[in-house]
Amino acid sequence: MSSTITKAVIPAAGLGTRFLPATKAMPKEMLPVVDKPAIQYVVEEAAAAGLTDIVMVTGRHKNALENHFDRMTELESLLEIKGDHDRLAKVRHASRLADIHYLRQGDPLGLGHAVLRARMHVGDQPFAVLLGDDLIDVRDALLTRMLAEQGKRNASIVALLEVDPSQIHLYGAAAVEATDDPDVVRVTGLVEKPSTEDAPSNLAIIGRYVLRPEVFDVLERTPPGKGNEIQLTDALQEMAVTPNATGGVYGVIFRGRRYDTGDRLDYIKAIVQLAVEREDLGPDLRTWLHEFVASHVEPAGVGPAAVGSVAVG
Ligand code: UTP
Repeated sequence: MSSTITKAVIPAAGLGTRFLPATKAMPKEMLPVVDKPAIQYVVEEAAAAGLTDIVMVTGRHKNALENHFDRMTELESLLEIKGDHDRLAKVRHASRLADIHYLRQGDPLGLGHAVLRARMHVGDQPFAVLLGDDLIDVRDALLTRMLAEQGKRNASIVALLEVDPSQIHLYGAAAVEATDDPDVVRVTGLVEKPSTEDAPSNLAIIGRYVLRPEVFDVLERTPPGKGNEIQLTDALQEMAVTPNATGGVYGVIFRGRRYDTGDRLDYIKAIVQLAVEREDLGPDLRTWLHEFVASHVEPAGVGPAAVGSVAVG
């Protein structure tokens, strides 16, 4: 089922403190994942789901983001003269993906505040939110499923991922009820970054949302929460418990591939996972990885001090 929703908000105004100093003068969404900035994967995903009217909410280093999705005529002419058509196509591709608008968040007062800044552009219709540091594998079509579910239930939809209970404190956690669909749950409550003991479940909210416009009114009155930031999760909590006024909240349980490029370790894993599947890089990288792993494996019973003397390769 194709959706009539065409607008997407991509908040990219966070400070990216986990990546300092790399993010001192560059948004973390511009960090390369293989040979594309993380944000390009997200814009490609939105465009593939039919979301071609995009508002990017930016902070301090907005130039890098704007330039990336803009034409770069000097570079294009140079590549054209050299006859480098492959690279020319890659450069042009980024500027043809969608109609992208930019607005500033001002102060980074939280994800909820960043989404609220897009109110004027979005207007009175459902819209999607994609976090710029959360990559969903294009083969897993999560957003398309969420858009279809929004059309069917006329509610706000969040994406939920089952995580290890020890990790739930890093996410918003959902209390849920089953529906007739094993992949869809009704969300009855949400808690931002709970301790393992306080978490209502190990279902974590990840960076894809399809929201009803009522979220803007709720965000207007949402006070700062965890981390003294205006949290989107807190607004969704209110919507989950007031289904008559706001349409309620449902969750699509995601069982596919996700890469969190906002976390350093997950970022490294994302690059490796995506590169091994590439035709141009995969074969050589796989061979090297085998050798690298073999030379770093600790044989059973040998402590770290002895590893250097038994390493192979
Ligand atoms: P994070 O919680 O990952 O925060 O934001 P952050 O500041 O980007 O990164 P760290 O934790 O300091 O390393 C989740 C998403 O919300 C956006 C971020 O850009 C990211 O896509 N965000 C967050 C905003 O746009 N504005 C904010 O005020 C906060």
